[in-house]
Amino acid sequence: MLTAEQIKLFIRVLKYNSEYDFSDYAPKSFARRVEKLLEDLQIDFYELIDKIENGDPDFIQFVVNNITVNTTELFRDPKVWQAIRYRILPRLKDNEVINIWHPGCSSGQEVYSMMIILNEEGLLEKSNLYGTDINTEMLEIARKGEYSYRLNVEYLQNFDEVINKNPYDYQHVSNVPYSKYFEIDPINDIIRVKPFLREKAVFVKHNLVSLTNPFERQFDMILCRNVLIYFNRNLQSKVINLFYRNLKYPGYLVLGYHETILDAESMGFFKHGYYFAKKLK
Ligand SMILES: C[S@@+](CC[C@H](N)C(=O)[O-])C[C@H]1O[C@@H](n2cnc3c(N)ncnc32)[C@H](O)[C@@H]1O
Repeated sequence: MLTAEQIKLFIRVLKYNSEYDFSDYAPKSFARRVEKLLEDLQIDFYELIDKIENGDPDFIQFVVNNITVNTTELFRDPKVWQAIRYRILPRLKDNEVINIWHPGCSSGQEVYSMMIILNEEGLLEKSNLYGTDINTEMLEIARKGEYSYRLNVEYLQNFDEVINKNPYDYQHVSNVPYSKYFEIDPINDIIRVKPFLREKAVFVKHNLVSLTNPFERQFDMILCRNVLIYFNRNLQSKVINLFYRNLKYPGYLVLGYHETILDAESMGFFKHGYYFAKKLK
């Protein structure tokens, strides 16, 4: 088992030999991932350190791709998506354009979920969606929009919850088929997002630790779900502040189901159920 000192050394060596600085991550998330990487590569800890010090950018990116946790799903936490659909989108529907940023988008299911509800509300055409992540392997999957059917089939239930039901109006029941948005091929274990969605989303590499907005625009909504849990308090507040500065007014921030903003009002947000609305400070 790796010691706390070894994890500190790993983070320090990565920082001085690459663009990646994990110093403000919660350290406990690392040990298991680095141990798994050592097992996969069949090398010991100090060999890993040597290889990082060699500075090969492809190897360093491979390490980063392997130490990030990328769990995601379509319409993760349906209640949150229902709130986005029926509480946030009506407030943005008259905008000329709707810009949405998904930092930490992993393999893209979150961005495609958003596109599907925008399309159901007739807002997709005037929307711009941007997914960013530090994991280049996940971004490649996101661009392809192709997933294992077997591993994603259970999330089609989430689709029904969000697309075919409305908890705010039980009269409203629809019957949108999955085939409107996906090509499904269970024999070859593939569920593929349809081209009209894939072609619209923009997926680029970006590190939130840089505290920059990689796009020359401000956003109506930022979804940063299940990413801040990996950061310490200090980095969390800096990132929340980055979001505050890059949201328009009105603008909305959506975090993971179990995440919150400590002292939200002093950070510039009102909490409304499953999301945060920007307030003028
Ligand atoms: C658990 S996944 C969450 C995916 C999706 N947002 C969701 O909730 O289903 C966390 C993602 O954050 C990404 N991530 C971690 N640190 C990051 C950083 N500094 N900048 C951008 N993305 C980061 C990881 O690579 C991973 O894909």
